[in-house]
Amino acid sequence: MKKIILTGDRPTGQLHIGHFCGALKNRALLQDVYQTYIMIADVQALTDNFNNPQKVRKNVFEVAMDNLAIGIDPNKSTIFIQSLIPEIAELTIFFSNLVTIDRLKRNPTVKEEILQKKELFKDDVTFGFLGYPVSQAADILVFQADLVPVGEDQLPMIEQTREIARKFNKIYGQTFKLPEAKVGDFPRVLGMDGRKMGKSLNNSITFTDSPKIIREKIKGALTGKIGGKNLLSLFKQFSDDKKLLEKFKKQYNDNTIKYSEFKPILAESIIEKLEPIREKRKQYENNPKIVEKILFDGVKKARIAAQETMKKIKEKMFLNYFRE
Ligand code: TRP
Repeated sequence: MKKIILTGDRPTGQLHIGHFCGALKNRALLQDVYQTYIMIADVQALTDNFNNPQKVRKNVFEVAMDNLAIGIDPNKSTIFIQSLIPEIAELTIFFSNLVTIDRLKRNPTVKEEILQKKELFKDDVTFGFLGYPVSQAADILVFQADLVPVGEDQLPMIEQTREIARKFNKIYGQTFKLPEAKVGDFPRVLGMDGRKMGKSLNNSITFTDSPKIIREKIKGALTGKIGGKNLLSLFKQFSDDKKLLEKFKKQYNDNTIKYSEFKPILAESIIEKLEPIREKRKQYENNPKIVEKILFDGVKKARIAAQETMKKIKEKMFLNYFRE
C-alpha cells in the first residue's frame, strides 16, 4: 500500500512562482511515490471570501489548471473540489468539540491573517474563519494522509491537525495516524515589492505571464538588501548555472552587483523554466471540458475514500445506528 498525501490550495487567485518554489515542485515529484490527493479548497476560500463567491468559483478552475500545468498527472493524482465532499463538513462538526476557542485564537497563521483582513472582519472575526484549522484537520484526516506538503505558513495547521487526531484517538479509540508536514526547499519567496508573494497582492509572477510581462516585472522588482537577496534566491531556483550564481552572489555581497546586468539574465532563466508550464496550461485553457472531466472523476474517487473513513469514524463515535 502506498502512503497517502493530501494537500490543497485556496482558490482565491492563480498560483504563482512562490507556490512553485515552496510547494508545487515538491508535489509533482511526490506523486510518483505517494497516493496523492490535491484538494481545491473552495469551502476554505469562502471563509474570507464569503462575500465574493464568483471569485472563488472562477479560481477553482484556474487553480486546477495551474496544478495540471506544473505536472500533476490526473492518472497518478486525484484532484477534487472540497465542497463536493460533504464528509469533510460533517467531520469538521465532530472535530469542533475537540478544540477550544483559546487554542484557535493562538494559531499564529490565523492570528496574522485576521490582522491582515481587518477590513473584512473589523474588530471581530467569524466563527468560520477562526475555525478553519478545524476544517483543515478534517480535510487531512478524512483522507488518512501520512504526509502534507505545504508552505511554511501552514505548519501551525498541521500541528493542530495532529492535536485533534491525538485527542480523537484518546477519546474514541485509535482511528487516525498522525500526519507529517513537508515544507519545500525554498519556502520564503518575496514578491516583486519585497512583501510576501501573494495571490491577491499583485506582486507575483504567474504561470500565464508572458515573457514580456515577466521581463517587466523583474525589471521593476525591488532591489537593495532584501529585494536583491530575494532575486538571487529566485535565480538559484530557476537557473542551472551555478558559476553565474556565485558571481552575482559575490557582487551582491560586496555591493558591486549591477541590476541592469543581473535582472535580464534572471528574467530569461524564469521565462525558460516556465515556458513548458505555460504551454501546457494553454492546452487546458483551450479545452475546459477536459479540466471539468478531471475534476468530476477526482471528486468521485475522493468521495469514496472519504466515505470509507467516515464509516469507521461513526462506528468509533457510536453513530452507526442502522446496518446498511
Ligand atoms: N490552507 C491552505 C492554504 O491556504 C489550503 C488548504 C486547505 C490545505 N486544506 C488543506 C493545505 C489541507 C494542506 C492540507 O494554502
